[in-house]
Amino acid sequence: MLKFDWRNADAQVIGSENGLDLSQEFSQYQEQITSIIADLNKRKDKPGQKLQWLNLGYNEETLWYVKEYASMVRGRFDNVLVLGIGGSALGGLAVTEALLKPYWNFLTKEQRDNFPRIFFLDNIDPDSINGLLDILDLKKTLVNVITKSGDTAETMAQFMILRDRLAQELGEDEYRKNVVATTDKQTGVLRQISEQEGYKTFVIPDDVGGRFSVFSAVGLLPFALVGIDIDEITNGIKDMDLALKNTDIHQNIAAQNALIQYLMDIKKGKNISVVMPYSSKLKFVADWYTQLWAESLGKNEDLNGNSVNVGPTPVRALGATDQHSQIQLFNEGPNNKVITFIRVGDFNTSLEIPKIFEYTGIGYLGGKTLNDLMNAEADSTMVSLSDYSRPTVTITLPKVNGYYIGQLLYMLEVQTAIAGALYNVNAFNQPGVEQAKYYTYALMGRAGYEDSAQMLQNKMNPISVS
Ligand code: PA5
Repeated sequence: MLKFDWRNADAQVIGSENGLDLSQEFSQYQEQITSIIADLNKRKDKPGQKLQWLNLGYNEETLWYVKEYASMVRGRFDNVLVLGIGGSALGGLAVTEALLKPYWNFLTKEQRDNFPRIFFLDNIDPDSINGLLDILDLKKTLVNVITKSGDTAETMAQFMILRDRLAQELGEDEYRKNVVATTDKQTGVLRQISEQEGYKTFVIPDDVGGRFSVFSAVGLLPFALVGIDIDEITNGIKDMDLALKNTDIHQNIAAQNALIQYLMDIKKGKNISVVMPYSSKLKFVADWYTQLWAESLGKNEDLNGNSVNVGPTPVRALGATDQHSQIQLFNEGPNNKVITFIRVGDFNTSLEIPKIFEYTGIGYLGGKTLNDLMNAEADSTMVSLSDYSRPTVTITLPKVNGYYIGQLLYMLEVQTAIAGALYNVNAFNQPGVEQAKYYTYALMGRAGYEDSAQMLQNKMNPISVS
C-alpha cells in the first residue's frame, strides 16, 4: 500500500508555532472523522449526492465494454487524439504520463507494441492545434471527444474542427469510425450529435463530476486504447477503498492528510498547499490534483449558506527541478504553505553515473545512480524545510505502476471529499467555473445568453484593447 508520513508536520519536529500536535488533533477529531466517513459511505449510492465516483473501481460493466472496444480497434489507429478540458483531460494526462513508457509518442510502432500514440488537446491555442493537425495522419487517428456536459465551448470547438477535417479526409460516412464520444447518457449537445451521427459512445455516469471522473470511461477508455492494464488500476482503487473505509484516523491516510491540510490552514494560517512529486512521470498528477483541490474546496458559501470564501490554494512543484526555483520561496518566504511530497520507492529503471572526472569536484557523483541522487535531493529538501520550520508530509508509492497510481489518485479524491466536509463546503459543485463558461457562451453569441452578452460588453468596453 501507499505510505503516508506526517511527522514533519508535527510540532515535535518543527515546533509548536508552525507544527500541529497531531496525536492530540487525531484524538480530538476522531469522532468527526468517523461521522464524515460513515456519512460518505451512507450517501454514496443515493442519486444527486455526486458520490458515484466512490463506486467506479467496482464498475465491471464499464471495464468490460472499454476492453471490448479497445480490442476491437486494436491495430487500426496510429494515434488517439483526446479532446477535453479540465476534469475531462487532466486525469488522462496524469495517468498516461505516469504509466506509459517515457517519450511514448516518439517510440516506433514496434517499441509501442503496436499501440497508438496519444495526444491530449486540453486547450484551444490555434497555433498548437494547427501544429498538431499538420503532423497527424487523420485517417489513422481515433478522436475521443470527452465532455460530461456535452456543451463545453473549448471541447466542442475542437471537435467541430476535427469532425470537419475527418469528414474531408475520410468522407461523410467513413469518418464516423474515427470518432468515439464519452459523455452523459442523455443530456448535452454531444449526446445529441452522437445519436444523430451514429458515433460509438461511452457514458460518464450520473453523479460523477468532471474532476472525479478519471476512473470512469473518461480515463479508462484512453488508457485501454494505449495498452495500459486497467484491471491493475482498478485493483489498486479497490484495495485503497477498503483501507479508506476504516474510520480510525490512525489507519486512514486520506483522513489524516485532509485533517492536516485543513488544520494547517485554519489554525496556522498555511493556506497554500504545495504538491511536489519527485518523479517526472508524476508531474501531471500534480496538475490533476491542483484542479481537484481548487475546484472542490474553493467556495464562496458553506453548507449552511454562510459566506465563507474558503479554500487552500494548490501549487504544483516538481522535484528536483523546483529545488532550483520555488524552494527558495518555500524555505525563506512566508511560512504559509504545507508541502506534500510524492515520492517513489523504486524507480522502474536505474541509471548509473559513470566514474569519470574523478580528479574534479564532481568526482563524488561517479558510481552513484540518478536514483540515489533523486532520493538524496528529496531527503535534503525535506530536512531543510524542517530546519526552516516548514511543514511537509510525504506520500510514498512503492513503484509507479497501475496498481499504485490507482491507489494514489483514489486516495487524493477521498482526501478531498473529507477536506470538503471539514471545511463544511460542497466539494462537488463548481459554480465559479460554470459562471465563466456561461460568460464565454454569451460572448461567442450562443442563443439564450443575449442579456449576459450585453452586460459583458458594457463591462468590457472601458478596458477593451480593440
Ligand atoms: O471538474 C469539473 O467539473 C470541470 O473541470 C469540468 O471537467 C470541465 O469544466 C469540463 O467540463 P465538461 O466535461 O462538461 O466538458
